[in-house]
Amino acid sequence: MVRAMPPRKKTVATKKRRASAPRRRATRPVGTASPRRSSRRLELSTSSSAVQARMMAERAKGRTIGFVPTMGALHAGHAALLDEARRRADLVVCSVFVNPKQFGPSEDLSRYPRRLEEDRALCEACGVDVLFAPGVDEVYPPGFDTQLSAGRMASLLEGAARPGHFDGVLTVVALLFSVVQPHFAVFGEKDYQQLALIRRMVRDLRMTVEVVPMPVVRDVDGLALSSRNAYLSAAERPRATALYRALMAAQDEVQRGVVDTARLVAAARAVLEATPGLTVDYVEVRDPRSLEPLATLDRDARVLLAARLGSVRLIDNGPVFAGVRYPR
Ligand code: PAJ
Repeated sequence: MVRAMPPRKKTVATKKRRASAPRRRATRPVGTASPRRSSRRLELSTSSSAVQARMMAERAKGRTIGFVPTMGALHAGHAALLDEARRRADLVVCSVFVNPKQFGPSEDLSRYPRRLEEDRALCEACGVDVLFAPGVDEVYPPGFDTQLSAGRMASLLEGAARPGHFDGVLTVVALLFSVVQPHFAVFGEKDYQQLALIRRMVRDLRMTVEVVPMPVVRDVDGLALSSRNAYLSAAERPRATALYRALMAAQDEVQRGVVDTARLVAAARAVLEATPGLTVDYVEVRDPRSLEPLATLDRDARVLLAARLGSVRLIDNGPVFAGVRYPR
C-alpha cells in the first residue's frame, strides 16, 4: 500500500500534538517496503562517534534532526513514530539498542527479540536516514560509571514492579540524545510513564530536545502492539485483549457520568479479573503529567493498567476526559 507523502516541513514544533486516540488501530502491514521511499539511502552505523560527527555536520547545515529511540523488533507501533519523525524532520535517525541497564535481574534481557535485518527493512520502508545500532560495549565502554536517577515518579506504577528500570531508561535516553543531538524525539504513549519521565528529565535538565508523543497503535482487536506479544501462546493471545476492554469499561463509566475514580478502577478490574489466567498487577487512574493518584475526575486523567498473562507482563493505558460523554 502506498500512502501519499505529505509535504516536508522545514521547522519543528509548528505542528500541534495529535489528540489521543484510544481506538487507533494499526493500518499498515509491518515491514512492507514502500516504493515512495526507495530512493532514500539508509545508513547503518554502530559507532557513536561517527553518528555524532555526522549529526554535528547536519546541524551545521541547518537540517532538522528527528530521533526515534527503540530496542528493535520493530512493529507498526514503532513505524507510526518513524512516520511522524519523517513528516517533521529533514533527517530521521532511529536507534536500535537493547539496553541492559533497564532490565532487572529476573527480566527477559537474553530472550528479548533481536532482528536487525527486519528492523533495517522497516526503517528503509519508513524513510529513515540513519539506523544507529551500537553494541553494548560501544554504549557502555569499560569504565562507564554514570547513572541518572529518576525521581519520585519512577517509584510509582511500573517503577514499583521494576526497581531501577527507569534509571536505566533515562541514562540511555540522555546518552542517545548526546550522540544524536536531535531537535525532537518521538515517544509512544504505549509506555506512558516512560514518556512522562522523559518529559520531566528534558525539563529538569534543560535539554533542548522537543518530546513528541504519539498515541498507542493497536491490533485490530484492540491489543496494544508490543514486541512482547510474540511470547503469548495461541490460547493467551485473545485473552490479552482484556486490557483494552478494561480501558473501554472505565471510559464507559465516565460516559455514564461517573467521576469517582474508584468506580472506574472497579469497572476495569472486573474485566481483567474475569479473564482466565490473567493476574492484575495494578489498575490506576492518575494525573496525566505527575502520575499522582486522583480521587475524582476533576480534570482529564489517564487510566493505567498492568497484568500478567502466563509469563508475559502486559501494560496498557488510555485517556479519560473530565466532563466528556463519548458519542455512542
Ligand atoms: P521500545 O519498547 O522498543 O519502544 C520504542 C518506542 O516505541 C517507545 O517510545 C514506545 O512507547 C513506542 N511504542 C512501542 N509500542 C508502541 C505502540 N503499540 N504504539 C505506539 N508506540 C509504541 O521504549 C523503549 O523501547 C526503550 O525503553 C527506549 C526508550 C528505547 C530506551 O531504551
